[in-house]
Amino acid sequence: MSYSNILSEKNDGICTITINRPAKLNALNRKTIQELHGALLEADDANSVKVIIITGSGEKAFVAGADISEFADFNVEEGSELAAQGQRLLFDLVENLNTPVIAAINGFALGGGLELAMSCHFRVASDNAKMGLPEVSLGVIPGYGGTQRLPQLVGKGRAMEMIMTAGMIDAQQALDFGLVNHVVKLEDLLPMCEKIGSKIMRNSSVAISAAIKAVNANYESGVNGFKVEIDQFGKCFGTADFEEGTSAFLEKRKANFPG
Ligand code: COA
Repeated sequence: MSYSNILSEKNDGICTITINRPAKLNALNRKTIQELHGALLEADDANSVKVIIITGSGEKAFVAGADISEFADFNVEEGSELAAQGQRLLFDLVENLNTPVIAAINGFALGGGLELAMSCHFRVASDNAKMGLPEVSLGVIPGYGGTQRLPQLVGKGRAMEMIMTAGMIDAQQALDFGLVNHVVKLEDLLPMCEKIGSKIMRNSSVAISAAIKAVNANYESGVNGFKVEIDQFGKCFGTADFEEGTSAFLEKRKANFPG
């Protein structure tokens, strides 16, 4: 499929999706969200794709937020619909994808940009990255899951301070907060994500997908994560990947997972 606001490139098991509106600091407008939705589903469906990396084009921004020019004149209903549709099409989709998704944060990740990074399974940042949820400075609150995922990742007090001050933290502070897992030089950002991706790819993609479901269950209200873990654990025993993984171990050879 061809896209105008994103680039999607598949190479050696990794699909790198680059948000490509550098003149607008890769701000997420409706079209970009739709295209990301399509590209993510396409990558998730492709057997050859084992890991997805999401990044921003240029050296300045991952994503500088939702496109403010698109919602500046919205009313209450339109505002609610914007959040609901965005969460459904992109943010919840990313979080619940079967394929692991790494955010490669290459600059500003603000508002919807940080919310996108937070919906990825984990994050790596370049040392020039700046992160924040500045929505209250615009008279609105984060609407793409930021009030829920930021406290999950950094704790309630830090999240409250970041949201209330509308301030930005730098990559080192994000590392100290546990918001990102690694900080590297900008030129090392994609190689680092690819290196982590290649470690992930050695393992069973079927088991990884089950692990994503079990870990995410911890954050779903009314869901018993331990029960989901038991169910997912049990299901693994019926997979060809389990047969191959255990046989390979017992035969002292490297596993070649069919999944
Ligand atoms: N929505 C729409 N356009 C945006 C945008 C956003 N979230 N963020 C940046 N842009 C556009 C700017 O309007 C500008 O476009 P123009 O050249 O046509 O005027 C272009 O991207 C470059 O941004 P600019 O503000 O000139 O860059 P800067 O280096 O001076 O500042 C930021 C960078 C990130 C500090 C600043 O762009 C900013 O504060 N952006 C908004 C962040 C935000 O509030 N996000 C949450 C939205 S809910």
